[in-house]
Amino acid sequence: MSDKSSIAVLTDNIYKTYRIDKDDITVLNGISLTIQEGETVAIVGPSGAGKSTLLHIIGLMTTPSAGHLRINGINKFSNNKILSKYRNSIIGFVFQSYNLLPEFTVVENVMMPLLIAGVNRESAEIRAKEMLEKVGLASRIKHLPSELSGGEQQRVALTRAVINKPKILIADEPTGNLDRNTGNNIMDLVFKMHSTYGFTLIMATHNDEIAGRCGSVIKLLDGKII
Ligand SMILES: Nc1ncnc2c1ncn2[C@@H]1O[C@H](COP(=O)(O)OP(=O)(O)O)[C@@H](O)[C@H]1O
Ligand SMILES: [Mg+2]
Repeated sequence: MSDKSSIAVLTDNIYKTYRIDKDDITVLNGISLTIQEGETVAIVGPSGAGKSTLLHIIGLMTTPSAGHLRINGINKFSNNKILSKYRNSIIGFVFQSYNLLPEFTVVENVMMPLLIAGVNRESAEIRAKEMLEKVGLASRIKHLPSELSGGEQQRVALTRAVINKPKILIADEPTGNLDRNTGNNIMDLVFKMHSTYGFTLIMATHNDEIAGRCGSVIKLLDGKII
């Protein structure tokens, strides 16, 4: 058994309920899981199973309706200010639809987490450019996201997600909008970054081949682990 300090994520009986009109819809139905630091975990299950909701809770983007959460040894996430503070310093997030800021260039998108963390503009730009060179996007730094292919946009999004050396990288169907070959290239980069930086990887996917590359697989159905 590992000691408590090596646990990256612990959820204890997490519920998430949305109230729509007068109906309560329970989307997560008592989720308990433990993920060790440095692990790679796939979360699979049909559309609507609650994968994104669970990732948003673990990624400190929303709070559970009930249950207990411990991320990186911290268990007090009582308000949005605390949530965003820890989110910025611990979590990197990659989405299916890239979610780059369309008005900003590639390098500006990648600089953003550093600027939010208080790094000065000059250093942030140097670090962002270095990272973009490493992922083969040196020739794209001045481009807008709309001028890039889907695979290139996801590489930018991934670079932005890891630029601040997060403890946990969360990816929500990161290859869902990409063809098989491009998706596999993105996953190669994710796993390469995982071995370089050692973050914990938690990824929702529909793709069994990709799930099989992770150290463990969690299956969700109707808001429960099966
Ligand atoms: N903000 C919300 N308000 C109401 N219902 C939501 C909200 N977000 C998600 N849901 C519902 O929660 C269920 C699970 O959604 P989601 O976590 O996105 O599943 P998955 O990612 O596995 O497809 C779905 O039925 C969805 O409609
Ligand atoms: Mg989803």
